[in-house]
Amino acid sequence: MELVQKLSNARDVQKELVDIDWDNLGFSLTPTDYMYVMKCCRGEHFSDGELRRFGNIELSPSSGVLNYGQGLYEGLKAYRKKDGNILLFRPEENAMRIQRGADRMCMPCPPVQQFVEAVKATVLANHRWIPPAGKGSLYIRPLLMGSGAVLGLAPAPEYTFLIYVSPVGNYFKEGLAPINLLVEAEIHRATPGGTGGIKCIGNYAAVLKAQAAAKAKDFTDVLYLDSIRKKYLEEVSSCNVFVVKDNVISTPAVEGTILPGITRKSIMDVARSQGFKVEERLIAVDELLEADEVFCTGTAVVVSPGELYGNNGVGPVSQQVYSTLINLQMGLTEDTMGWTLELKLK
Ligand code: COI
Repeated sequence: MELVQKLSNARDVQKELVDIDWDNLGFSLTPTDYMYVMKCCRGEHFSDGELRRFGNIELSPSSGVLNYGQGLYEGLKAYRKKDGNILLFRPEENAMRIQRGADRMCMPCPPVQQFVEAVKATVLANHRWIPPAGKGSLYIRPLLMGSGAVLGLAPAPEYTFLIYVSPVGNYFKEGLAPINLLVEAEIHRATPGGTGGIKCIGNYAAVLKAQAAAKAKDFTDVLYLDSIRKKYLEEVSSCNVFVVKDNVISTPAVEGTILPGITRKSIMDVARSQGFKVEERLIAVDELLEADEVFCTGTAVVVSPGELYGNNGVGPVSQQVYSTLINLQMGLTEDTMGWTLELKLK
């Protein structure tokens, strides 16, 4: 709390932006000024987090995260409004999701308020790196990892919670143009009882091979099917998937193998508020042949339309839910959902 107050009140807050090429941001790391670091021992609580200059961190070669993958990450974004103030989108949802993940991965985790305050402090400390309104966003990447040394398989004795940020533009090079997904039935992202439903770092390394093979064939990314019947849609490497047919918007139900995306949840609420019927259910891959539209959702991708046979434009439903969400996130329309958290620079 104090840190956030100090940062937003600071007399010497420099309001000007850093001098980078804001018109050509992609989704890659631009190192910024500060990162947030907080540590605790197994069985204890996180306290005394601090902002440090952004840079490399030291880890034991025997740390839990390096050896056994005991790690989680989150992703959220901050947008600069036209009046210069900053909007965060549902940071408490990320705080709750990382808690569920931490429980699954046997890690201590900061409580919701502490997580949100750490995000606010990191964003304020790096505010000069938030793109001008309409040019992109500041991607915020919280990490939670077993940083202590272990040799036998066990939870690490020490944990590090870290937040770094980077200005970003579009995730896919296609921008808002439809992406081209390869349906993958043999390599699976997740299995029942596994960790597909949490944001565990290993879920992402596990799809790199399928993703590389798809890219080599000129596909944008991969759409995974379930590992048991090899028939039902799961998600894309970095985002959830939705199918539109008539006035119904459907997405695979989250039952352990699918990430409960915050954009996914928000899009379902937006769609319901606009009169669409929204279903969370099993979606057979064959339904893509009959669908009117398909689109992906995620923090990084926001809403990204997918190509369907004989239909390569951006569908009207995808366009409508995308515009509603992005305008709300950027502060261009009133936030009637109560989802944004405004940070003011004094
Ligand atoms: C996000 O959208 O925040 C993600 O975690 C996906 C990541 C691969 C960029």
